[in-house]
Amino acid sequence: MSSIKLDIQMVDDELKSAAREILPKAGAALRDLQEKRCTGAEFTGWYDWPKIKGHALAKDIRKLVGSLDVFYDQVVVIGIGGSYLGCRAVTDALSHSYAGQVTAKQGRRPGLTFAGHHLSESGLVELLDLLEEKQPIINVISKSGTTTEPAVAFRVIRSYMEKRFGKEEASKRIIATTDSKSGALRSLAKSEGFKSFDVPGDVGGRYSVLTAVGLVPLALAGFNIEDLLQGADDVFRSLEAPAADHPVLQYAAVRSAAYQNGKTVDILAYGEPRLFHTVEWWKQLFGESEGKEGKGLFPAGVAYTTDLHSLGQYVQEGVRNLIETFLMVDDPLGRTGGVERRLRIPAMSENADELRYLENRFISEINDAALVATRIAHFDGGVPCMALHLPRIDEKSLGALFAFFETACAIGGALLQVNPFDQPGVEAYKKNLFGLLGKPGFENLGVELRRRL
Ligand code: PA5
Repeated sequence: MSSIKLDIQMVDDELKSAAREILPKAGAALRDLQEKRCTGAEFTGWYDWPKIKGHALAKDIRKLVGSLDVFYDQVVVIGIGGSYLGCRAVTDALSHSYAGQVTAKQGRRPGLTFAGHHLSESGLVELLDLLEEKQPIINVISKSGTTTEPAVAFRVIRSYMEKRFGKEEASKRIIATTDSKSGALRSLAKSEGFKSFDVPGDVGGRYSVLTAVGLVPLALAGFNIEDLLQGADDVFRSLEAPAADHPVLQYAAVRSAAYQNGKTVDILAYGEPRLFHTVEWWKQLFGESEGKEGKGLFPAGVAYTTDLHSLGQYVQEGVRNLIETFLMVDDPLGRTGGVERRLRIPAMSENADELRYLENRFISEINDAALVATRIAHFDGGVPCMALHLPRIDEKSLGALFAFFETACAIGGALLQVNPFDQPGVEAYKKNLFGLLGKPGFENLGVELRRRL
């Protein structure tokens, strides 16, 4: 059974019954996925990945990390979308919140930072400031090898590395993860002699966290990639002969029923700030997979309790087009990236802040109560609310969560009758950008666009 539990108590009866009717279709969609009969079947290599290739790949990655003959204390991941969000989700969830600012009490991992996911000049200038104080290793990740944002960042960083270390050492400090045969990055890796890993041809970016895309930088930065794979494997195994209401199927069915019932926005709420990028990863997964052909729930993330003093008002009383899922973490000891430290409200002689009733209680208890209170309030305010329970925040649970959401998303796409593995809409801005910047072959588009400005 999957380690992730789904609670649909705060979903109204009408929606529950509509979801029950969808469950058999969700089950059929899962079988189509498993038997590679679904739309976009050529991009389902991520399903059951740990068992098929993941564990063997982890060994190759460990070998590479062990054989590096350069010292590094800073890993730089260059990539955008699915080429960085999974890695970032894991590193943010499992790192000290003030890593780099305090002498962290959770072991000495190299620093990890990200580039190529924006086009901010000042962002890159400041990254170069950081690199100047560090011994960097670079993992540039792009399946296509031609995406503008990472290509720009990589050129800047490569040029810096070559100036600082010389061409030979720079190339020892660069690892490329890209298509096995084609693309500009593959050609560069060959001509410059970078160590390289493949993005499997049958896995799209946003489903690639458990391939070399996520595992290489995570291993470089000292995370337990074997546990990550194990957590995912457990979920895939639980789906081999699933109960009709397996949490993955139920989650997909409730979302689908809500959409058919007129809901248009799907919120993932979380109570631990370290899960911010986990939710960013989820947003990309569902947004790019379902949002096409004029269809799909808009995925949004809210951080509680922070956003209870911001977006909470809207969720409670705004347009009733929302559904919400609360990402809960059951073990209060497992919320700090593996460091078992806890904090109680201190007892004090005076009670000016009126917190005596909370004295000696753990902060996590108060946080949990706030999330439960919010879920009930939002349900009472007309928002169907699910709760997804993770046992802890650790590699195993995150691996399980990735497998859970990827599978639910693929099923969701099938229920919506869209291809959940393509992203044709992303091309529109890319073409316009090429036109405006004068990329050869796009000159006429540039003229046409400028006429409209
Ligand atoms: O999910 C996807 O396929 C996309 O989000 C890609 O990951 C993103 O566009 C980056 O593409 P690439 O890895 O080709 O640079």
